[in-house]
Amino acid sequence: MTSESVKKKIEELRRQIEHHSRLYYIKDRPEISDSRYDELFRELKSLEEKYPELKDASSPTMRVGGVPREGFSKVKHAGRMLSLQAVHTKKDALGFDKRCRETLGVDKLDYICEPKLDGLSVELRYEKGVFIQGATRGDGIIGEDITENLRTIRSIPLKLRDTNLNHLVVRGEVVMLLKDFQELNKKHIKENKQAFANPRNAAAGSLRQLDPKIAAGRGLTAFIYEVIESSGRKIKTQEESLELLKDCGFMINAEIRHSDSIKEAIKYHSGLERGRDKLDYEIDGIVIKVNNLAYHDVLGVRSTTPRWAAAFKFEPRKETTIVEDIVVQVGRTGTLTPVALLRPVEVGGVTVSRATLHNMDEIERKDIRIKDKVKVQRAGDVIPQVISVDKEARTGNEEKFHMPGRCPVCGSPVIHEDVYYFCGGGILCPARMKESIKHFASKNAMDIEGLSNKTIELFFDRGLIKAVPDIYKLKKEDLLELPGWQEKSAQKLIDSIAKSKSTTLSRFIFGLGLRHVGRHLAEVLAANFKDIDELRKAKRGELEGIKEIGPKAAESVSDFFSGGKSLKIIEELKKSGLKIHNEAVRGKLKNLTFLFTGTLPSFSRNLAQAEVEARGGQVSSTLSGKVDYLVAGELPGSKFKKAKEKGVKIISEDEFKKLLK
Ligand code: IVH
Repeated sequence: MTSESVKKKIEELRRQIEHHSRLYYIKDRPEISDSRYDELFRELKSLEEKYPELKDASSPTMRVGGVPREGFSKVKHAGRMLSLQAVHTKKDALGFDKRCRETLGVDKLDYICEPKLDGLSVELRYEKGVFIQGATRGDGIIGEDITENLRTIRSIPLKLRDTNLNHLVVRGEVVMLLKDFQELNKKHIKENKQAFANPRNAAAGSLRQLDPKIAAGRGLTAFIYEVIESSGRKIKTQEESLELLKDCGFMINAEIRHSDSIKEAIKYHSGLERGRDKLDYEIDGIVIKVNNLAYHDVLGVRSTTPRWAAAFKFEPRKETTIVEDIVVQVGRTGTLTPVALLRPVEVGGVTVSRATLHNMDEIERKDIRIKDKVKVQRAGDVIPQVISVDKEARTGNEEKFHMPGRCPVCGSPVIHEDVYYFCGGGILCPARMKESIKHFASKNAMDIEGLSNKTIELFFDRGLIKAVPDIYKLKKEDLLELPGWQEKSAQKLIDSIAKSKSTTLSRFIFGLGLRHVGRHLAEVLAANFKDIDELRKAKRGELEGIKEIGPKAAESVSDFFSGGKSLKIIEELKKSGLKIHNEAVRGKLKNLTFLFTGTLPSFSRNLAQAEVEARGGQVSSTLSGKVDYLVAGELPGSKFKKAKEKGVKIISEDEFKKLLK
């Protein structure tokens, strides 16, 4: 093929694929088989690979997700993204209509009524008919650039059908269809991942994935409902905006109706409330919009909501069912939450079988017992609330619930405070492992530079780190297989993990994540025990005898060390080369003040400070008369010169190490 004919062929394939994709995803009326579609797609892909100079951001092949990003950049919206004032009753809806009519001085107003989609609002920007940028709502003024993820959504045209529009900015809602949501949650549960609470969270989670390939596999749909800026065609009403959007190839919600009056809008509300369960996406009300756009300008905007629209909400959905059992769930921070296992019941198109009971207080207040008949309510979330118990229906066989004495996940003793219960297992409990790893690596604990919460999330989700000791088993090769990791960044992280192996006892104790043992108590404990083994063997009475250690902290520490698991994990960490500095040398640097300048090859600033403080010394951030030693590392700053002038003793890193020994 000549280069001109290749170009033509590619363009033709792109046109055909977009056409069939539109028929399939937007019109729900496919004309060719899935395999024929795949064939066209493969043909285009192989041509684009062969002729990379003909690649184009608006090609349908770009929908499969490009390269992962480090983070999202910020985008300023074309105008503030507003929210909606909510009305809950017919009376309120009539009041909204009256206020609008009075301001405008008219007797009658017509409206466009739309479902209030429960998703995530986005702004899309097209230049010369091509999709160039898409953003989340953010704070309403500035959002996050999620263009690559939006590109993977089939109902978002990459090229406008009406190409006369040079410039177009639109807004709409990205939702996850209920069937896609249920499939995704099933998959997550199977893979031992956290399930999403509702389709909105699932859609939001998918759009905020740094790897567009993940978003591409999540089955998202975008309904567009607002034209913000457009060059060319003049639009006078919301109805015309929707026409324009449809002509451009956007997906417009099929339930949108024109209403001649507020009465008709109220009827639409009742109709949709009854029919909402037949829809394959979640809605939580309707949006009533004044149709005439010129009136929008007259009515104006309150601080964050326009006066020309109102969200008329639906009642949350309620059903009756039976509490089959009450079990305990351990949250990511170690909190024990009682959960009712319900006889499965369909509430608004979603089968629910669990309800959170929050805490013991809630159970006692509502007097919820096992085998009770209860009314449950679902307001958006798949996990509903138990709103009341049908006490009349009791037979006498109902059982009261009691919190277990041991964590159902790791078997550690449960700590009880007021109405709350916590697992005392710290880093031993698998239920809170992800959070424990984050805590262990954090600045005030092991201070592993570069092992951020986001990185831990990624490593955990990929199964690279399952528990704290796995941090020290990470290999550079493992990191290089992950998206976005290169030789340099991987080596840097491996180095800082190695650096963190040398730590202080107080940091290590703090890193164990024991309830009631914050930074200060970790220091107190470190000051009273020679090493971690001595602390491990301490009896509760001995711990309580230490000034500042109260009964709760003493219980927490002795509970943690009571089983064999803690010993095992400490041994495993020591085997990985962890050196926990013996602080028996405490008091060695008492009354001495240190100041640091330049880089110290074997210490992070935090570690150097901790080493000094563990020995009773102090660290200053400025050069004052109090400073006894200036520790000068590589490339020292201006402090070096000043210290010399003032005659302050200057020492090297090696001399500093000797002082610590
Ligand atoms: S119009 C000035 N139409 O509701 C209002 N919003 O509470 C511009 N929403 O942030 C929005 N369905 O995310 C509009 N048919 C619809 C909507 C809708 C859902 C969301 C949107 C907005 C929020 C406001």
